[in-house]
Order: sequence, then C-alpha cells, then structure tokens
Amino acid sequence: MSVSTTRPVRLLGLPGSLRQNSYSLAILRGLQAGLGAEAVLEIRDLQLPLYNQDEDGPNGPEAVHAFRRAIAEADGLVIATPEYNHGAPGVLKNALDWASRPYGQSVLTGKPVLIISSSPAFTGGVRAQAQLNETLLSVQALLVPGPQVVIGNVAAKVQDGRLVDEASLEFALAALRGLAALCRSASRLEAPAAVGS
Ligand SMILES: Cc1cc2nc3c(=O)[nH]c(=O)nc-3n(C[C@H](O)[C@H](O)[C@H](O)COP(=O)(O)O)c2cc1C
Repeated sequence: MSVSTTRPVRLLGLPGSLRQNSYSLAILRGLQAGLGAEAVLEIRDLQLPLYNQDEDGPNGPEAVHAFRRAIAEADGLVIATPEYNHGAPGVLKNALDWASRPYGQSVLTGKPVLIISSSPAFTGGVRAQAQLNETLLSVQALLVPGPQVVIGNVAAKVQDGRLVDEASLEFALAALRGLAALCRSASRLEAPAAVGS
C-alpha cells in the first residue's frame, strides 16, 4: 500500500476547559486560523466520564474508545489548558488518565505533544503546565522541546472567541511549527511543497 509522505500534519487540539467561552478554546481557534498548509488542527472537547478502572476495558465507554482513536489517528496533540488551583484542571487530567491506558499500550506513548497554558493572570498557568509535563512524561509522550508556551493576561488577547494578540500568536505558532517538525520526524512525513514551487 502506498502512503503519501507529503500530506499535511494532522493535529488534534484539546482544550482543558469545558467552558463555552473558554480562553483555552479561543487559543486553539486562533491557531487554527493562523496555520499554513503544513498542518491541519481539529479541536475536540474533553466530555468524558470520570475515570473508573472497573469500566476500563473492551466494553468500556464508547466516548473513551472514540477519544483514544482520535489521538491514535492524529500525528500530534496540542493541549491548551488553564490552571485550576495551581494545577491542571480535573477535566484534562481525567482525559489523560483514560488515554494513558491500557498500561503499556497508551496512544500517548511516542505521540508528539505541545502544551500551551494560559490565564487571565500574568502567571499564564505555568504551574498547570509543569504538572502536565510530569503526567505526559510518565506515559512517554514526546514533548516539544523549547520555550514553554505560556500566555498571561489572556482575557485581553481574545476577541470574538479567538486569540488575536499578534505576539502570543507568533509565539504559539512558532512552537506549533516545532510540533509539526517533531511529528514529521516521528512518522517520516515530508513537508508539502511550498505553494507555487
Ligand atoms: C476552580 C478554579 C480555579 C482556578 N485557579 C486558578 C489558578 O490557580 N491560577 C490561575 O491563573 N487562574 C485560576 N483560575 C482562573 C482561570 O484561569 C480562569 O477562570 C480561566 O478563564 C479558565 O480557563 P478557560 O477560559 O479556558 O475556561 C481558576 C478558575 C477556577 C474556576
């Protein structure tokens, strides 16, 4: 079977908040709008049941199977998260716990991941980001190396449900290009030819 090595990188965006007007969701929407031809970003919410090991098996919740499939089919993940009480939101930790199993066969293992944290405060959710790094390292996800993408004062940087602050977008998009490069080297994808070449 021939496999195209020049398709765009497929990214899955996970907002760590279920709030309708979430800034985390707005960041992902802003990135979607700013992406070039090299990558596509699908956004998926984290409406999942609470993790219960008794229900974690072949007959487990369909929402969990679909979530794991979506991760498996993506080349890489972009997690945009707020900070709750100096840590990662339960919604996101819960989703990562589901994705971390079955033990030894997690769809997160070897998966390139970029974390972006934000807050209306100037601290930008940096403590949530540190916790998420630990969780993702425990399942051997591939974290994008480089500066942590932290967006402080985010309320002033979002308009009409989308991140519009130029400096924050540039910062995040540079990291996203790093993620795309990591995805390509992890799956031996080549970059699509530049338009016009
Ligand atoms: C339960 C709770 C705890 C919070 N704790 C923090 C915190 O520790 N640090 C922080 O910067 N913001 C904190 N916030 C404020 C969130 O950053 C803010 O509500 C943000 O808009 C949530 O992200 P979202 O816009 O993606 O929903 C907290 C908010 C809630 C609801």
